[in-house]
Amino acid sequence: MFAESAALRRIKASPTVAISAQARALKSEGVDVIALSAGEPDFDTPDNIKDAAIKAIRDGVTKYTDPDGTPELKRAICAKFKRENGLDYTPGQVHVAPGGKPVIYNALLASLSPGDEVLIPAPYWVSYPDMALLAGGEPVIVPTRAEDGFRLKPEALEAAITPRSKWLILNSPSNPTGAAYSAADLKAIAEVLLRHPQVWVLTDDMYEHLLYDGFEFSTIAQVEPALYDRTLTMNGVSKAYAMTGWRIGYAAGPEPLIKAMGKAISQTTSNASSISQAAAVEALNGPQDFIPERAAHFEKRRDLVVSMLNQASGLVCAKPEGAFYVYPSCEGLIGRKTEAGKVIGSDEDFAKELLAAEAVAVVHGAAFGLSPFFRISYATSTEVLEDACTRIQRFCASLR
Ligand SMILES: Cc1ncc(COP(=O)(O)O)c(C=O)c1O
Repeated sequence: MFAESAALRRIKASPTVAISAQARALKSEGVDVIALSAGEPDFDTPDNIKDAAIKAIRDGVTKYTDPDGTPELKRAICAKFKRENGLDYTPGQVHVAPGGKPVIYNALLASLSPGDEVLIPAPYWVSYPDMALLAGGEPVIVPTRAEDGFRLKPEALEAAITPRSKWLILNSPSNPTGAAYSAADLKAIAEVLLRHPQVWVLTDDMYEHLLYDGFEFSTIAQVEPALYDRTLTMNGVSKAYAMTGWRIGYAAGPEPLIKAMGKAISQTTSNASSISQAAAVEALNGPQDFIPERAAHFEKRRDLVVSMLNQASGLVCAKPEGAFYVYPSCEGLIGRKTEAGKVIGSDEDFAKELLAAEAVAVVHGAAFGLSPFFRISYATSTEVLEDACTRIQRFCASLR
């Protein structure tokens, strides 16, 4: 009989992937489901990027590449870090993998020994704790508060650090809250880290280009150069260039870490698709003007969703700085009953009953490590968002 490995038994399957699959299954049965559970832009990959991929195929760019990325893509990544973040990296400090997710996993796999701790502020992107476990480490969850804009407080970080702390993972703007850290916020966190040289920082900057109200992006290696030698600055093309299916993520950091990550990828996936890498070169080197245009669409959608959710009985929704998520509190509805008499005892019950009553799929906050909240992805059209928020309002009003 088949039995899962000891390593796999430590983790769970991605809850966001599971909820999206549930929504798709309902849709295939003919239910008019609105899925606000997926974390990907609804825009298409720009044509110049698609054309670069087609050209790569025609030119025979169809072979293995260096396991951790082509020289051309590494150069384009170095130019991006210099141009947009004022960070100096050489191609030997860059790692490319099939998506941002494997970049993070390779970093953890390359660096964690049993008992090493990974500090993860909650709410967190669902994959961090399980990737830390799979790589043999121990996730240490550090809660944040809605009152603090879901940002990690320096005191909370200080209290969570131990001699075994190996990494702090910072994600700004955040999935699932949309919260972003200003340069001053990062400076305060850096001050704590400077006192603890054993702690490295992995910054997940995937949503860098989705910031609103003029909020300026900052990343910790830029804000505190003294941390440069222990920071892995991670990013990717999935969200900024609407390239989730192409599978390209990247990171830059100290050479010994990058070498170790290269060793890990050389014996696992090997290189990301040669064609996707060629497309990513065009994404990073080509025209960037569509990025703020798309961000402006997302900003309007954020405003619509925040406003409509705050009109729903029992919900409180903060206005986040970036990404394409909101993370409203459903605390005001805990203890209420549905028309069928079911008690809403948790955010998971809320999400389940909302899907049953109004066919709107959202992800419960427990999946991200902070309750009672839920996550909505607003990467969909205004009409769909209006319909979804109207259904949510109707559901909340129906609870007694
Ligand atoms: C915060 C965050 N980091 C990393 C990723 C992974 O991106 P990719 O699709 O490139 O693996 C995601 C995707 O949802 C994300 O939300």
